[in-house]
Amino acid sequence: MNELELNLKYKVYGSTQEMDKEKSELAAESIKAAKKAYAPYSKFHVGAAVLMENGEIISGNNQENAAYPSGTCAERVAIFYASALQPGKRIKAIAVYAEGEESTYEEPVTPCGSCRQVLLEYENRQGINIPVIMTGVNGKVLEAPSISSLLPLAFGSFQLRGGQ
Ligand code: THU
Repeated sequence: MNELELNLKYKVYGSTQEMDKEKSELAAESIKAAKKAYAPYSKFHVGAAVLMENGEIISGNNQENAAYPSGTCAERVAIFYASALQPGKRIKAIAVYAEGEESTYEEPVTPCGSCRQVLLEYENRQGINIPVIMTGVNGKVLEAPSISSLLPLAFGSFQLRGGQ
């Protein structure tokens, strides 16, 4: 028996101001996007902002539905929108922010498993890491260096292709 040990490292900032301008602006856009979420059922407002290679920021938020599973998370709305508007263009970073209307979770919220899988598709496609900047209501920031660091041992298209 052998063991496989994974070493994951994330950055932690006390506030968005500790990051460079590009990233703190991206975080600010994710906060703005969360305010426009359609989340009447969960009352949990999530915003995501995608920074494109040309400097454009494309954002999205969670869109819920009376038939609950038909709704979609902010990260997927944002990245699908980005890919629809700028197909095949490089994504430099993604920011996520969440705040509850009634709940008081203050720490940075991390993307759900389905969103991690969806985001990974775009990171693998471009072959360049996409950092994920997660900002909490308390202003603290957690930065993952890549999508794959949020989804170790992930399933990807290389497995479909027999490892190529
Ligand atoms: N949600 C997101 O938008 N992103 C996540 O990563 C986690 C959950 C949304 C889905 C739903 O509208 C609400 O938050 C509660 O789960």
